[in-house]
Amino acid sequence: MRVWHSIPSLLFCPYSTGNLLTQTEKLPLLELNNIGKTFAENIVALRDMSLAVHTGDFISLLGPSGCGKSTALRILAGLTEPTVGKVNWHQKPTSGSIGIVFQEPTLMPWATVAKNVWLPYRLHGKSFNKSMAKISHTLELVGLKEFSQSYPRELSGGMKMRVSIARALVTDPKIILMDEPFAALDEITRFKLNNDLLKIREESGSTIIFVTHSVFESVFLSDRIAVMAARPGRIIKELNIDEPYPRDEAFRTSSKYASMCRMTSEALKESMDI
Ligand SMILES: Nc1ncnc2c1ncn2[C@@H]1O[C@H](COP(=O)(O)OP(=O)(O)O)[C@@H](O)[C@H]1O
Ligand SMILES: [Mg+2]
Repeated sequence: MRVWHSIPSLLFCPYSTGNLLTQTEKLPLLELNNIGKTFAENIVALRDMSLAVHTGDFISLLGPSGCGKSTALRILAGLTEPTVGKVNWHQKPTSGSIGIVFQEPTLMPWATVAKNVWLPYRLHGKSFNKSMAKISHTLELVGLKEFSQSYPRELSGGMKMRVSIARALVTDPKIILMDEPFAALDEITRFKLNNDLLKIREESGSTIIFVTHSVFESVFLSDRIAVMAARPGRIIKELNIDEPYPRDEAFRTSSKYASMCRMTSEALKESMDI
């Protein structure tokens, strides 16, 4: 939970929020340039991974277990260094402008929902009272306004994940990194959170990098999918999901969605075959 400390302190250019930008209006945010990461005993988690990210992008990293998705996210977060290559930020992040959501909500059980969401501010010495307006606004955004004084044990799995998302959102991050955040949830809750995540993103204007191994989730959420293969971990294909936002249940049940899922499944199957 010391993520917010580890990000270099530089400035972001302001950009408009509340509107999703079209691809041509998007500003370059960062690039991964030929990233490699080798662990002890010569485990090549990533080799030659390149990815361009623009403000407002919703990119999924889709691939089988062990293909380096979490490692790529940790490198983006500045939590670990690549062995080769580098992350080139066009607009360097300030501390607090990268939000991270892990698969486990990792909440403090002894603290209320509001106090959990306060954490990134607390780490920077900002008082609870001074943070309260922002905390309330963010809890409203994730649909938990009435639960600010509840404790994690009183919440469902989906609600805990909403708290985790609120904690990542509260500092107005320019990029949110999400590592299989809904993988442990039942399908109905997952669909609901997928819908809500798109609404939150529309309102916050955040750039999102989303790790998943679900074809259906990646197609519903993303405007771009980087399909990854393992041993060594790498991107084998980038797919554009050419469907405007907002996306809703009509898209989820459309034949266009079904054919996009088929196309993505085929790319994923290729990644398992090679
Ligand atoms: N800290 C680590 N030390 C050694 N090997 C690791 C470490 N983290 C990940 N790996 C290895 O790197 C590869 C990619 O892991 P990971 O990024 O967690 O994949 P994914 O998130 O796609 O499942 C795996 O073979 C994993 O065992
Ligand atoms: Mg992982």
